[in-house]
Amino acid sequence: MMHEHLPDGGLIRKLWAGETDAYRDHLLRLDTDSRHRRFSGAVADEVVIRHAATASGPGVVVHGFFVDGILRGAAELRRNGSMFSQEAEAAFSIEQPWQSHGVGTELLERTLLSARNRGIKSLQMQCLANNQRMQQLARKFEAGLSFDFGGVVGEVDPPRSTVLSLMREAMVDSHSVATAIFEAQSRLFKAA
Ligand SMILES: CC(C)(COP(=O)(O)OP(=O)(O)OC[C@H]1O[C@@H](n2cnc3c(N)ncnc32)[C@H](O)[C@@H]1OP(=O)(O)O)[C@@H](O)C(=O)NCCC(=O)NCCS
Repeated sequence: MMHEHLPDGGLIRKLWAGETDAYRDHLLRLDTDSRHRRFSGAVADEVVIRHAATASGPGVVVHGFFVDGILRGAAELRRNGSMFSQEAEAAFSIEQPWQSHGVGTELLERTLLSARNRGIKSLQMQCLANNQRMQQLARKFEAGLSFDFGGVVGEVDPPRSTVLSLMREAMVDSHSVATAIFEAQSRLFKAA
């Protein structure tokens, strides 16, 4: 039920601290155009590698879209400045074969929930002016976010976390852990 809108075999969960290598490999697999859109410009492999390594740092939450245990999409929420800052940046990356299947929509929904629960009031998305898909995607959440494209800043609404939204995040996380353990077990069984 939780993943009914995702392509077959896909699941979304937060990345764990030890998974920055998987994040790096995913970002390096992006095709040239997607990498350009993700980083708002052409960046060298070294820049991507250095960036991925910072994803386990404080103030960063990455939701991952996994297919058969491989990370194929990600949404990175990064608080600007100090731990108490109420501003954050979000960035999305989905590998080409999985684009336009609703994964970005699910990832943005999870990201908004996490942002709200962390007291983020302003969410920025660096987005190239010609990135129609990202703009369409963001517009779907206009009710919870207000936009101004060309270096997009959105207001997260409602600004404070509610008991309900905190519970929803906890529920989704515990569900994901159960799924991940189940996945790991079925892979072990397959291997045996
Ligand atoms: C931009 C991106 C995150 C969007 O995620 P996605 O999973 O492809 O998007 P979705 O399938 O959830 O579609 C979101 C909306 O975009 C629109 N859309 C989908 N495919 C589209 C296309 N090919 N052209 C134009 N609009 C499109 C639709 O309105 C869609 O919503 P709907 O299907 O409910 O109508 C993803 O394509 C991606 O990672 N691209 C490369 C990197 C990037 O551009 N990152 C964004 C900058 S941070």
